[in-house]
Amino acid sequence: MTLKTKSGAPVGASRRAFLSGAAGLAGLAVTAPRAFAASDRVEALLAQMTIEEKAGQLSCFADVIRPPIGDMNPLVNIRNAQTLTAEVKAGRVGALFNGVGAQAARDTQKAAIEGSRLKIPLLFAADVIHGFRTVFPIPLAEAASFDPHLAERTARATAIEATASGLHWTFAPMVDVARDQRWGRVAEGSGEDVFLGELLAAARVRGFQGKDLKADDSMLATPKHFAAYGAVTAGLEYNSVELSDATLREVHLPPFQAAFAAGALTTMSAFNDVNGIPATANKMLLTDILRGEWGFKGVVVSDYTADQELVAHGFAADDRDAARLAILAGVDMSMQSGLYNRYLPELVASGAVPMAVVDASVRRVLALKEAIGLFDNPYRSLDPRDEAERTATPAIRALGREAGARSIVLLKNDGPLLPLPKVGKRLALIGPFADDRDNVLGAWGGFFADRRLNVDLATGLRAQMADPGSLIVERGCEVETTIAGGFERAVAAAQAADIVLLAIGESQDMTGEAKSRTDIRIPPVQQRLAEAIAATGKPVVVLLRHGRAIQLEGVVRDAPAILATWFLGSEMGNAVADVLFGAVNPSGRLPVSFPIDSGQEPFFYNGRTTGRPAPTDPNGQEYKARWRSIRNDALYPFGFGLSYTRFDVTDMKLSTARLAWNETLHVTAKVRNSGGVHGDHVVQLYIRDRVASRTRPIRELKGFQRVSLAPGAEREVRFELKRQHLMFVGDNDYWISEPGVFDVWIANSSVDGLAASFELLPVG
Ligand code: BGC
Repeated sequence: MTLKTKSGAPVGASRRAFLSGAAGLAGLAVTAPRAFAASDRVEALLAQMTIEEKAGQLSCFADVIRPPIGDMNPLVNIRNAQTLTAEVKAGRVGALFNGVGAQAARDTQKAAIEGSRLKIPLLFAADVIHGFRTVFPIPLAEAASFDPHLAERTARATAIEATASGLHWTFAPMVDVARDQRWGRVAEGSGEDVFLGELLAAARVRGFQGKDLKADDSMLATPKHFAAYGAVTAGLEYNSVELSDATLREVHLPPFQAAFAAGALTTMSAFNDVNGIPATANKMLLTDILRGEWGFKGVVVSDYTADQELVAHGFAADDRDAARLAILAGVDMSMQSGLYNRYLPELVASGAVPMAVVDASVRRVLALKEAIGLFDNPYRSLDPRDEAERTATPAIRALGREAGARSIVLLKNDGPLLPLPKVGKRLALIGPFADDRDNVLGAWGGFFADRRLNVDLATGLRAQMADPGSLIVERGCEVETTIAGGFERAVAAAQAADIVLLAIGESQDMTGEAKSRTDIRIPPVQQRLAEAIAATGKPVVVLLRHGRAIQLEGVVRDAPAILATWFLGSEMGNAVADVLFGAVNPSGRLPVSFPIDSGQEPFFYNGRTTGRPAPTDPNGQEYKARWRSIRNDALYPFGFGLSYTRFDVTDMKLSTARLAWNETLHVTAKVRNSGGVHGDHVVQLYIRDRVASRTRPIRELKGFQRVSLAPGAEREVRFELKRQHLMFVGDNDYWISEPGVFDVWIANSSVDGLAASFELLPVG
């Protein structure tokens, strides 16, 4: 298949090559999918299996034998432990999820190995999203580190703890690109940008899986939710998705490709529909693109009862029809509904589903078990002795603290008020999160966490103060309600202090699955508390607690210092104290744009321009793309973040102003730490295609580098741009390059920077 460029010159590459090329040039080495073919052993097993046993391998159930913790999902199809064990022995279960504990898992595995006819081992899965016993920052927070290596390290540590507790498979990372901050699951992903999302998706897969899938501490990763869940209309959870094929391919699919290129062997089909076809019955997504174009050889598991939900979607007539549609579209494994067990035997007998389709899915599931060494060692990762040894070790906790501090974003620092001195100032820590230990982990964090590890802010601050007695702590109010006398005590505390630390924002149950919000402001009672505190005239440092971008207003927006502190996990209090007192110089950058107003959502930096962009001149704003009351700008843009030192970026140079078709452009600049303390700067490279056959984003991130510099030190940063970085999806879903002029910026955020331009020359 050849591809025509704008100039008409043939390029000569298949769509698939171009698609993987796009992911590869986002900074990833594209590798062929890991060798993952069914072996003779798998074929021999398959030949002996009854249709009931095949359906069993394709069924995954909540682990009620070692009861799941928490209540993440509605109770559906719950069995008791005895019934479930009997089903395991009958060969009617392929995988169990969300139970933990090595000994009980070992016992259940024994039931499968010694009690079932074909002795096929079980896979043990769980939603281990950002830590296990020790909890790391929510993925969105960690994305603010702009540090894929950090994400790889926290995923590795997560896998080490989780596999020690009898787990093989995590339903993570969530790689959904989320451009609407009303959606609660923004917290679980890497934010609004594709490029950052690709790098973090790949890093997390590498971290979870480690170098050797058969190793006892390797955990299978599941990039989810396939696909476009992040694009639910109006940010409403589970809502329908309406989007163009080009946006699907340019924005929502690339992080999945990056995750597969990094070796992920499973994915999860999403709850939502995409342009009228539910993802869980979407052959175009699950078979044509995933397997056909990308060559994915792994397993597709449905989301929780997503196959059964095809009925509520109005896409399947009944449960039987739902099972048929899901398996024919490409869902190998059914989660929790039990529909495959119930209907596959009859669907195959009646000819509605060919046996070959079922066999292909069973082969994949068995090959997955084989890939992690389960047939040779069914008891891998099920050794109770490892559980204590590999959990919450000092190294893992230190990593949690480091990750927490690196995820914090300094949004504002007038004065500068920060860092705070450790002696000589009386501090008042005010707000519902001041000494709260129940909202440090984030929505998934509480699931398996050892909550005894949670460090609240007050504890973290006191540990670093020369005189811990000079910290006054007053909640003032709860997250959404008042406390009797709370405001009065908080105001008195502020009056008695030199500096106020105001810990306000969202509780963790305002974020995550099924937690969409209509507006993204701080709850009114906390805003009122902030006003009462500001009226004392004391300088205020806002410590924002949140799982999404927040609309800041009034005295909170106008406070002299603001830190985005998200949900940082077990070590939250220590990590925040490290930044407040300057042990760590903040270097996080926003992975989501903070809008001026909730009503701007969906708001993201890389939208396309209109025919009437708002000019900077305030007098020329009539009939322009703006709201009646505000410009359509960010309050704090994607990529933004301050430091305790100052960085100057100068001397931007391009190796050529005329880039030949297959050549590489080098973009360089100098970065200098011209302030007084050591710090890290995240230098960002953006492009814009000035004129194209499709309107293009006003900016697109194409590279970033973290530079660590001592005061006075200077370094050159160097980026490479190739034609493939400049591609986009044109007619008939092909990635195309078009010759023409491109702007390029070396920037501190998505709205500033040194600018230059170059021309991509036609081929030949
Ligand atoms: C979520 C998934 C999760 C599954 C299993 C669903 O409700 O959407 O992300 O993996 O439950 O707990």
